[in-house]
Amino acid sequence: MAATIVLGAQWGDEGKGRVVDYFAEKADFVVRFQGGNNAGHTIVVGDQRLALSLIPSGIHYPNCTPVIASGTVIDPAVLIAEMDMVAEKGLDPSRVRLSSNAHLIMPYHRKLDAAIERYLGKNLIGTTKKGIGPAYTDKFSRFGIRVQDLFDPKIFREKVDAALVDKNKILPRVYNTLPMDAGEITDEYLGLAERLRPHVTDTSLLIHRAVKEGKEVLFEGAQGTLLDVDHGTYPFVTSSNPTAGGAVIGAGIGPKAIDEVVGVAKAYISRVGTGPFPTELNDETGDTMIELGGEYGTVTGRRRRCGWLDLVALRYAARVNGLTRLFITKMDILSASDTIAVATGYRAGDDRYDEFPSQQSVLYHCEPEYVELDGWGEDITGVRRYEDLPKEARAYIEFIEEAVEVPVGWVSVGPERSQLVEIR
Ligand code: IMP
Repeated sequence: MAATIVLGAQWGDEGKGRVVDYFAEKADFVVRFQGGNNAGHTIVVGDQRLALSLIPSGIHYPNCTPVIASGTVIDPAVLIAEMDMVAEKGLDPSRVRLSSNAHLIMPYHRKLDAAIERYLGKNLIGTTKKGIGPAYTDKFSRFGIRVQDLFDPKIFREKVDAALVDKNKILPRVYNTLPMDAGEITDEYLGLAERLRPHVTDTSLLIHRAVKEGKEVLFEGAQGTLLDVDHGTYPFVTSSNPTAGGAVIGAGIGPKAIDEVVGVAKAYISRVGTGPFPTELNDETGDTMIELGGEYGTVTGRRRRCGWLDLVALRYAARVNGLTRLFITKMDILSASDTIAVATGYRAGDDRYDEFPSQQSVLYHCEPEYVELDGWGEDITGVRRYEDLPKEARAYIEFIEEAVEVPVGWVSVGPERSQLVEIR
Protein backbone atom coordinates (compact mmCIF):
# COMPACT_ATOMS: atom_id res chain seq x y z
CA MET A 1 0.00 0.00 0.00
CA ALA A 2 2.68 2.56 1.07
CA ALA A 3 1.40 5.99 -0.06
CA THR A 4 -2.12 5.67 -1.45
CA ILE A 5 -4.61 8.30 -2.53
CA VAL A 6 -8.26 7.30 -2.15
CA LEU A 7 -10.54 9.72 -3.96
CA GLY A 8 -14.03 10.10 -5.34
CA ALA A 9 -14.29 9.30 -9.05
CA GLN A 10 -17.78 10.80 -9.45
CA TRP A 11 -19.64 13.77 -7.87
CA GLY A 12 -18.85 12.81 -4.28
CA ASP A 13 -20.81 10.49 -1.99
CA GLU A 14 -19.23 7.41 -3.56
CA GLY A 15 -18.89 5.75 -0.17
CA LYS A 16 -15.29 6.87 0.42
CA GLY A 17 -15.83 6.77 4.18
CA ARG A 18 -16.16 3.01 4.26
CA VAL A 19 -13.35 2.57 1.72
CA VAL A 20 -10.94 4.71 3.71
CA ASP A 21 -12.06 2.91 6.85
CA TYR A 22 -11.13 -0.39 5.19
CA PHE A 23 -7.65 0.84 4.21
CA ALA A 24 -7.14 2.80 7.45
CA GLU A 25 -6.95 -0.38 9.49
CA LYS A 26 -3.44 -0.91 8.12
CA ALA A 27 -2.50 2.79 7.79
CA ASP A 28 -0.12 4.71 10.03
CA PHE A 29 -1.46 8.06 8.83
CA VAL A 30 -4.72 9.15 7.20
CA VAL A 31 -4.47 12.60 5.63
CA ARG A 32 -7.29 14.97 4.63
CA PHE A 33 -5.83 17.26 1.97
CA GLN A 34 -8.64 19.55 0.75
CA GLY A 35 -12.13 20.80 1.55
CA GLY A 36 -13.54 21.30 5.00
CA ASN A 37 -16.72 20.45 6.86
CA ASN A 38 -18.65 20.34 3.60
CA ALA A 39 -17.58 16.68 3.53
CA GLY A 40 -19.26 14.08 5.65
CA HIS A 41 -18.75 10.44 6.33
CA THR A 42 -20.22 8.03 8.78
CA ILE A 43 -18.11 5.30 10.25
CA VAL A 44 -19.41 2.48 12.35
CA VAL A 45 -17.45 1.64 15.50
CA GLY A 46 -18.91 -1.39 17.25
CA ASP A 47 -22.57 -0.50 17.60
CA GLN A 48 -21.89 3.24 17.46
CA ARG A 49 -22.16 5.42 14.37
CA LEU A 50 -19.71 8.27 14.10
CA ALA A 51 -20.60 11.11 11.71
CA LEU A 52 -17.43 13.04 10.90
CA SER A 53 -16.91 16.01 8.63
CA LEU A 54 -13.33 17.10 9.32
CA ILE A 55 -11.48 14.46 11.30
CA PRO A 56 -10.12 11.86 8.87
CA SER A 57 -11.22 8.24 9.10
CA GLY A 58 -8.75 6.22 11.09
CA ILE A 59 -9.47 8.07 14.34
CA HIS A 60 -10.81 4.80 15.77
CA TYR A 61 -7.63 2.85 15.07
CA PRO A 62 -5.22 3.55 17.97
CA ASN A 63 -2.12 3.21 15.76
CA CYS A 64 -3.33 5.61 13.12
CA THR A 65 -2.59 9.33 13.17
CA PRO A 66 -5.33 11.45 11.54
CA VAL A 67 -3.82 14.47 9.78
CA ILE A 68 -5.63 17.58 8.51
CA ALA A 69 -3.20 19.04 5.99
CA SER A 70 -2.62 22.55 4.67
CA GLY A 71 -4.94 22.35 1.65
CA THR A 72 -8.00 22.19 3.91
CA VAL A 73 -10.20 24.98 5.31
CA ILE A 74 -11.04 24.70 8.98
CA ASP A 75 -13.98 25.93 11.01
CA PRO A 76 -12.33 25.76 14.45
CA ALA A 77 -15.55 25.42 16.46
CA VAL A 78 -16.62 22.50 14.24
CA LEU A 79 -13.27 20.75 14.64
CA ILE A 80 -13.32 21.18 18.43
CA ALA A 81 -16.93 19.93 18.64
CA GLU A 82 -15.96 16.92 16.54
CA MET A 83 -12.98 16.13 18.78
CA ASP A 84 -15.25 16.40 21.85
CA MET A 85 -17.79 14.09 20.23
CA VAL A 86 -15.07 11.57 19.41
CA ALA A 87 -13.82 11.70 23.02
CA GLU A 88 -17.37 11.12 24.31
CA LYS A 89 -17.47 7.94 22.24
CA GLY A 90 -14.38 6.74 24.07
CA LEU A 91 -11.88 7.45 21.27
CA ASP A 92 -8.70 9.49 21.66
CA PRO A 93 -8.69 12.77 19.69
CA SER A 94 -5.26 13.83 21.00
CA ARG A 95 -3.60 12.22 17.96
CA VAL A 96 -5.29 14.58 15.49
CA ARG A 97 -2.68 16.71 13.73
CA LEU A 98 -3.63 20.02 12.13
CA SER A 99 -1.53 22.01 9.67
CA SER A 100 -0.50 25.47 10.80
CA ASN A 101 -0.95 26.53 7.16
CA ALA A 102 -4.59 25.43 6.83
CA HIS A 103 -6.94 28.35 6.29
CA LEU A 104 -9.69 29.27 8.71
CA ILE A 105 -13.36 29.45 7.80
CA MET A 106 -14.51 32.70 9.41
CA PRO A 107 -18.10 33.68 10.36
CA TYR A 108 -18.24 36.10 7.42
CA HIS A 109 -17.42 33.21 5.06
CA ARG A 110 -20.46 31.29 6.24
CA LYS A 111 -22.60 34.40 5.98
CA LEU A 112 -21.36 35.18 2.48
CA ASP A 113 -21.85 31.59 1.32
CA ALA A 114 -25.54 31.73 2.30
CA ALA A 115 -26.01 35.30 0.98
CA ILE A 116 -24.40 34.54 -2.41
CA GLU A 117 -26.57 31.45 -2.88
CA ARG A 118 -29.68 33.50 -2.08
CA TYR A 119 -28.53 36.16 -4.49
CA LEU A 120 -27.98 33.62 -7.30
CA GLY A 121 -31.66 32.60 -7.14
CA LYS A 122 -32.40 29.83 -9.64
CA ASN A 123 -28.74 29.80 -10.73
CA LEU A 124 -27.59 28.76 -7.28
CA ILE A 125 -24.86 26.13 -6.92
CA GLY A 126 -26.50 24.35 -4.01
CA THR A 127 -23.50 24.67 -1.71
CA THR A 128 -23.41 23.23 1.79
CA LYS A 129 -23.38 26.82 3.12
CA LYS A 130 -20.42 26.03 5.36
CA GLY A 131 -18.38 28.95 4.01
CA ILE A 132 -16.09 26.80 1.86
CA GLY A 133 -16.14 28.90 -1.34
CA PRO A 134 -15.64 32.29 0.38
CA ALA A 135 -12.82 30.83 2.57
CA TYR A 136 -10.93 29.59 -0.51
CA THR A 137 -11.67 32.90 -2.28
CA ASP A 138 -9.94 34.76 0.54
CA LYS A 139 -7.06 32.28 0.50
CA PHE A 140 -6.38 32.95 -3.17
CA SER A 141 -6.92 36.68 -2.91
CA ARG A 142 -4.45 36.61 0.02
CA PHE A 143 -6.91 37.90 2.59
CA GLY A 144 -7.10 34.48 4.22
CA ILE A 145 -6.37 33.88 7.88
CA ARG A 146 -4.48 30.72 8.75
CA VAL A 147 -4.43 28.41 11.75
CA GLN A 148 -0.99 29.76 12.75
CA ASP A 149 -2.44 33.29 13.01
CA LEU A 150 -4.52 32.14 15.99
CA PHE A 151 -1.31 32.06 18.02
CA ASP A 152 -0.37 35.67 17.37
CA PRO A 153 -3.31 37.72 18.69
CA LYS A 154 -1.98 41.03 17.35
CA ILE A 155 -1.61 39.70 13.81
CA PHE A 156 -4.94 37.90 14.08
CA ARG A 157 -6.76 41.13 15.02
CA GLU A 158 -5.09 42.99 12.17
CA LYS A 159 -6.08 40.32 9.66
CA VAL A 160 -9.71 40.22 10.78
CA ASP A 161 -9.83 44.04 10.55
CA ALA A 162 -8.33 43.92 7.05
CA ALA A 163 -10.70 41.19 5.90
CA LEU A 164 -13.73 43.09 7.17
CA VAL A 165 -12.89 46.30 5.31
CA ASP A 166 -14.50 45.06 2.12
CA LYS A 167 -16.80 42.43 3.68
CA ASN A 168 -18.56 45.03 5.80
CA LYS A 169 -19.29 47.02 2.69
CA ILE A 170 -20.35 44.04 0.63
CA LEU A 171 -22.57 42.35 3.22
CA PRO A 172 -25.01 45.27 3.69
CA ARG A 173 -24.71 46.97 0.31
CA VAL A 174 -24.71 43.98 -2.02
CA TYR A 175 -26.36 41.25 0.00
CA ASN A 176 -28.58 43.31 2.27
CA THR A 177 -27.33 41.68 5.47
CA LEU A 178 -25.87 43.14 8.65
CA PRO A 179 -22.15 43.99 8.88
CA MET A 180 -20.04 41.95 11.30
CA ASP A 181 -18.14 42.97 14.39
CA ALA A 182 -14.36 42.44 14.27
CA GLY A 183 -14.01 42.41 18.06
CA GLU A 184 -16.62 39.69 18.54
CA ILE A 185 -15.08 37.49 15.86
CA THR A 186 -11.58 37.97 17.23
CA ASP A 187 -12.62 37.15 20.80
CA GLU A 188 -14.48 34.04 19.70
CA TYR A 189 -11.61 32.68 17.59
CA LEU A 190 -8.77 33.55 19.97
CA GLY A 191 -10.84 31.89 22.70
CA LEU A 192 -10.58 28.62 20.73
CA ALA A 193 -6.87 28.86 19.99
CA GLU A 194 -5.61 27.04 23.08
CA ARG A 195 -7.85 24.07 22.37
CA LEU A 196 -6.23 23.69 18.96
CA ARG A 197 -2.62 24.43 19.94
CA PRO A 198 -1.59 20.88 20.96
CA HIS A 199 -2.71 19.57 17.56
CA VAL A 200 -1.03 22.14 15.36
CA THR A 201 2.14 21.19 13.54
CA ASP A 202 4.02 21.21 10.24
CA THR A 203 2.03 18.41 8.62
CA SER A 204 4.05 18.50 5.38
CA LEU A 205 7.17 17.53 7.35
CA LEU A 206 5.23 14.92 9.30
CA ILE A 207 3.97 13.29 6.09
CA HIS A 208 7.34 13.58 4.35
CA ARG A 209 9.05 11.72 7.20
CA ALA A 210 6.33 9.08 7.29
CA VAL A 211 6.66 8.40 3.56
CA LYS A 212 10.46 8.33 3.82
CA GLU A 213 10.30 5.78 6.63
CA GLY A 214 8.05 3.56 4.49
CA LYS A 215 5.00 4.07 6.70
CA GLU A 216 1.54 3.39 5.30
CA VAL A 217 0.08 6.77 4.43
CA LEU A 218 -3.44 7.17 3.11
CA PHE A 219 -4.59 10.39 1.48
CA GLU A 220 -8.34 10.73 1.89
CA GLY A 221 -10.09 12.81 -0.76
CA ALA A 222 -13.33 14.61 0.06
CA GLN A 223 -16.05 15.30 -2.54
CA GLY A 224 -15.17 13.90 -5.98
CA THR A 225 -13.46 14.40 -9.33
CA LEU A 226 -16.46 16.01 -11.04
CA LEU A 227 -16.65 18.58 -8.22
CA ASP A 228 -13.00 19.61 -8.73
CA VAL A 229 -12.68 23.37 -9.27
CA ASP A 230 -10.32 22.84 -12.23
CA HIS A 231 -11.53 19.55 -13.71
CA GLY A 232 -15.16 19.28 -12.60
CA THR A 233 -18.42 20.61 -14.00
CA TYR A 234 -17.52 24.24 -13.27
CA PRO A 235 -19.14 26.36 -11.83
CA PHE A 236 -21.18 23.59 -10.18
CA VAL A 237 -18.20 22.38 -8.22
CA THR A 238 -16.59 22.81 -4.85
CA SER A 239 -13.77 25.33 -4.41
CA SER A 240 -10.89 22.87 -4.00
CA ASN A 241 -9.12 20.05 -5.87
CA PRO A 242 -10.43 16.62 -4.86
CA THR A 243 -8.35 15.09 -7.69
CA ALA A 244 -5.00 13.31 -7.23
CA GLY A 245 -2.98 16.46 -7.91
CA GLY A 246 -4.83 18.12 -5.04
CA ALA A 247 -3.47 15.49 -2.67
CA VAL A 248 0.10 16.34 -3.56
CA ILE A 249 -0.43 20.09 -3.24
CA GLY A 250 -2.74 19.95 -0.24
CA ALA A 251 -0.47 17.63 1.73
CA GLY A 252 2.76 19.34 0.70
CA ILE A 253 4.64 16.37 -0.76
CA GLY A 254 6.13 15.54 -4.15
CA PRO A 255 4.20 13.57 -6.79
CA LYS A 256 6.74 10.74 -6.81
CA ALA A 257 5.83 9.89 -3.21
CA ILE A 258 2.52 8.41 -4.37
CA ASP A 259 2.37 4.67 -5.11
CA GLU A 260 -1.30 4.11 -5.82
CA VAL A 261 -4.40 6.13 -6.73
CA VAL A 262 -7.66 4.34 -5.93
CA GLY A 263 -10.81 5.79 -7.48
CA VAL A 264 -14.03 5.10 -5.63
CA ALA A 265 -17.17 4.88 -7.75
CA LYS A 266 -20.67 3.73 -6.94
CA ALA A 267 -22.12 1.00 -9.17
CA TYR A 268 -24.50 3.80 -10.26
CA ILE A 269 -23.96 7.56 -9.83
CA SER A 270 -25.38 10.47 -7.83
CA ARG A 271 -24.92 14.17 -7.29
CA VAL A 272 -26.26 16.78 -4.87
CA GLY A 273 -26.68 20.41 -5.72
CA THR A 274 -27.30 21.73 -9.21
CA GLY A 275 -25.40 21.27 -12.48
CA PRO A 276 -25.39 18.99 -15.53
CA PHE A 277 -25.89 15.26 -15.01
CA PRO A 278 -26.31 13.31 -18.29
CA THR A 279 -27.44 9.97 -16.82
CA GLU A 280 -29.84 11.42 -14.24
CA LEU A 281 -33.05 9.37 -13.85
CA ASN A 282 -36.15 11.35 -12.92
CA ASP A 283 -38.29 8.26 -12.74
CA GLU A 284 -39.13 5.26 -10.64
CA THR A 285 -35.72 3.65 -11.26
CA GLY A 286 -34.00 6.78 -9.92
CA ASP A 287 -36.36 6.84 -6.92
CA THR A 288 -35.55 3.19 -6.20
CA MET A 289 -31.81 3.96 -6.22
CA ILE A 290 -32.40 6.84 -3.78
CA GLU A 291 -34.49 4.75 -1.42
CA LEU A 292 -32.49 1.49 -1.55
CA GLY A 293 -29.19 3.33 -1.56
CA GLY A 294 -30.17 5.70 1.27
CA GLU A 295 -29.13 8.58 -0.96
CA TYR A 296 -29.55 11.48 1.43
CA GLY A 297 -26.64 13.82 2.29
CA THR A 298 -24.65 13.25 5.50
CA VAL A 299 -24.05 16.97 5.98
CA THR A 300 -27.21 18.62 4.65
CA GLY A 301 -29.70 15.72 4.55
CA ARG A 302 -30.54 16.64 0.94
CA ARG A 303 -32.01 14.02 -1.41
CA ARG A 304 -29.35 13.10 -3.94
CA ARG A 305 -30.04 12.96 -7.67
CA CYS A 306 -29.33 9.44 -8.97
CA GLY A 307 -28.74 7.77 -12.33
CA TRP A 308 -27.08 4.92 -14.21
CA LEU A 309 -23.32 4.51 -14.11
CA ASP A 310 -21.63 6.95 -16.48
CA LEU A 311 -18.55 5.31 -18.01
CA VAL A 312 -17.68 8.42 -20.03
CA ALA A 313 -17.32 10.34 -16.76
CA LEU A 314 -15.51 7.44 -15.08
CA ARG A 315 -13.00 7.19 -17.93
CA TYR A 316 -12.45 10.91 -17.53
CA ALA A 317 -11.84 10.44 -13.78
CA ALA A 318 -9.33 7.68 -14.58
CA ARG A 319 -7.51 10.08 -16.90
CA VAL A 320 -7.33 13.22 -14.74
CA ASN A 321 -6.35 11.26 -11.62
CA GLY A 322 -4.15 8.57 -13.14
CA LEU A 323 -6.24 5.94 -11.35
CA THR A 324 -4.43 2.68 -10.74
CA ARG A 325 -7.41 0.75 -9.36
CA LEU A 326 -11.15 1.14 -8.90
CA PHE A 327 -13.20 0.41 -5.80
CA ILE A 328 -16.85 -0.12 -6.79
CA THR A 329 -19.33 0.48 -3.96
CA LYS A 330 -23.02 -0.28 -3.41
CA MET A 331 -23.15 -3.06 -5.99
CA ASP A 332 -25.99 -4.64 -3.95
CA ILE A 333 -28.28 -1.66 -4.67
CA LEU A 334 -28.53 -2.80 -8.30
CA SER A 335 -29.68 -6.31 -7.38
CA ALA A 336 -33.32 -5.22 -7.78
CA SER A 337 -32.89 -4.29 -11.48
CA ASP A 338 -33.70 -6.77 -14.27
CA THR A 339 -31.49 -4.91 -16.70
CA ILE A 340 -28.75 -2.45 -15.91
CA ALA A 341 -27.85 0.39 -18.24
CA VAL A 342 -24.39 1.98 -18.45
CA ALA A 343 -23.55 5.06 -20.50
CA THR A 344 -20.67 4.41 -22.88
CA GLY A 345 -20.97 7.61 -24.94
CA TYR A 346 -23.02 10.78 -25.29
CA ARG A 347 -24.93 12.32 -28.15
CA ALA A 348 -25.60 16.05 -28.47
CA GLY A 349 -27.41 16.99 -31.68
CA ASP A 350 -25.50 15.33 -34.52
CA ASP A 351 -22.32 14.93 -32.51
CA ARG A 352 -21.19 11.87 -30.63
CA TYR A 353 -18.82 11.98 -27.66
CA ASP A 354 -16.63 9.15 -26.37
CA GLU A 355 -14.77 11.50 -24.08
CA PHE A 356 -16.19 13.82 -21.43
CA PRO A 357 -16.91 17.14 -23.21
CA SER A 358 -14.80 20.01 -21.97
CA GLN A 359 -17.44 22.52 -23.07
CA GLN A 360 -20.02 22.89 -20.30
CA SER A 361 -22.78 24.00 -22.68
CA VAL A 362 -22.30 20.74 -24.63
CA LEU A 363 -22.50 18.63 -21.48
CA TYR A 364 -25.87 20.20 -20.68
CA HIS A 365 -27.29 18.88 -23.93
CA CYS A 366 -25.70 15.44 -23.83
CA GLU A 367 -28.00 12.45 -24.00
CA PRO A 368 -26.35 9.24 -22.84
CA GLU A 369 -25.89 6.29 -25.18
CA TYR A 370 -26.62 3.24 -23.10
CA VAL A 371 -25.54 -0.36 -23.28
CA GLU A 372 -27.97 -2.62 -21.46
CA LEU A 373 -26.55 -5.46 -19.42
CA ASP A 374 -28.41 -8.31 -17.74
CA GLY A 375 -29.13 -7.81 -14.07
CA TRP A 376 -28.35 -10.61 -11.62
CA GLY A 377 -31.68 -10.40 -9.80
CA GLU A 378 -30.46 -12.05 -6.61
CA ASP A 379 -29.21 -11.00 -3.21
CA ILE A 380 -25.42 -10.60 -3.25
CA THR A 381 -24.98 -9.11 0.23
CA GLY A 382 -23.58 -12.40 1.58
CA VAL A 383 -20.98 -12.87 -1.19
CA ARG A 384 -17.33 -12.53 -0.16
CA ARG A 385 -15.41 -14.11 -3.07
CA TYR A 386 -15.36 -12.84 -6.64
CA GLU A 387 -16.07 -16.26 -8.08
CA ASP A 388 -19.24 -16.47 -5.95
CA LEU A 389 -20.77 -13.37 -7.52
CA PRO A 390 -23.49 -14.18 -10.09
CA LYS A 391 -22.03 -14.29 -13.61
CA GLU A 392 -24.02 -11.17 -14.60
CA ALA A 393 -22.46 -9.22 -11.71
CA ARG A 394 -18.98 -10.33 -12.80
CA ALA A 395 -19.83 -9.35 -16.37
CA TYR A 396 -20.82 -5.90 -15.08
CA ILE A 397 -17.47 -5.48 -13.31
CA GLU A 398 -15.55 -6.70 -16.34
CA PHE A 399 -17.48 -4.32 -18.59
CA ILE A 400 -16.43 -1.41 -16.37
CA GLU A 401 -12.78 -2.54 -16.36
CA GLU A 402 -12.69 -2.77 -20.11
CA ALA A 403 -14.37 0.60 -20.71
CA VAL A 404 -12.29 2.49 -18.17
CA GLU A 405 -9.05 0.53 -18.65
CA VAL A 406 -8.47 0.36 -14.92
CA PRO A 407 -8.72 -2.88 -12.93
CA VAL A 408 -11.41 -3.15 -10.27
CA GLY A 409 -9.74 -4.18 -7.01
CA TRP A 410 -12.74 -4.28 -4.70
CA VAL A 411 -16.52 -4.38 -4.76
CA SER A 412 -18.71 -3.61 -1.77
CA VAL A 413 -21.97 -5.54 -1.44
CA GLY A 414 -23.42 -3.97 1.73
CA PRO A 415 -22.78 -1.30 4.34
CA GLU A 416 -21.01 -3.50 6.91
CA ARG A 417 -17.22 -3.57 6.99
CA SER A 418 -17.21 -7.29 6.13
CA GLN A 419 -19.54 -6.94 3.11
CA LEU A 420 -16.70 -6.70 0.67
CA VAL A 421 -15.32 -8.72 -2.24
CA GLU A 422 -11.56 -8.36 -2.75
CA ILE A 423 -10.70 -9.07 -6.36
CA ARG A 424 -7.02 -8.34 -6.66
P1 IMP B 1 -19.54 23.67 -1.31
O1 IMP B 1 -18.43 22.67 -1.30
O2 IMP B 1 -20.29 23.73 -0.01
O3 IMP B 1 -19.09 25.01 -1.78
O4 IMP B 1 -20.63 23.17 -2.39
C1 IMP B 1 -20.32 23.17 -3.79
C2 IMP B 1 -20.93 21.95 -4.48
O5 IMP B 1 -20.26 20.78 -4.03
C3 IMP B 1 -22.41 21.73 -4.21
O6 IMP B 1 -23.01 21.18 -5.35
C4 IMP B 1 -22.40 20.70 -3.09
O7 IMP B 1 -23.59 19.96 -3.06
C5 IMP B 1 -21.20 19.86 -3.51
N1 IMP B 1 -20.58 19.16 -2.37
C6 IMP B 1 -19.78 19.69 -1.42
N2 IMP B 1 -19.38 18.75 -0.56
C7 IMP B 1 -19.90 17.59 -0.99
C8 IMP B 1 -19.80 16.24 -0.53
O8 IMP B 1 -19.13 15.91 0.45
N3 IMP B 1 -20.48 15.32 -1.27
C9 IMP B 1 -21.19 15.65 -2.38
N4 IMP B 1 -21.31 16.89 -2.84
C10 IMP B 1 -20.66 17.85 -2.16
